[in-house]
Amino acid sequence: MQKLELIDALLLGNEALDNDHRDLVDLANKLIESIKDKNSDGTQQYLSDFCKRFCEHEKFEIEFLNEIGFPNVRSLEIHYNNMYREIQYLYHLFDRAIRNEIGWKTFRDALASGLFETLIREDLSFKSFLIECGHSTHSGR
Ligand SMILES: [Fe+2]
Repeated sequence: MQKLELIDALLLGNEALDNDHRDLVDLANKLIESIKDKNSDGTQQYLSDFCKRFCEHEKFEIEFLNEIGFPNVRSLEIHYNNMYREIQYLYHLFDRAIRNEIGWKTFRDALASGLFETLIREDLSFKSFLIECGHSTHSGR
């Protein structure tokens, strides 16, 4: 499984949000690395760190978007709730992963299904709004 990268196309041009996303990608990569090494202690720790950081980030992002008047906050909240459930499901898969090879493979495949990239790609839905309101250093097309 390849390492994830916060490529330019995924940047919002908002320092606080981009820094948060960078942190999440770093944690996701540490998680991937420890899965590769079948390091169960590390995997459990990074999974828990990732989940905590994800919750903090989404709370911050929702509050910020509400503050600046983004009109589709509700649909983002629904998306984040679904993501949260997927992350919680990883805990369930992790319990199996530590038992055997198939368990590790299932856990790794669940991550590879695009969970982490989806997390950040969805945010591009409000990028043009950030630009219009002057909350992004990027320019509109
Ligand atoms: Fe985000």
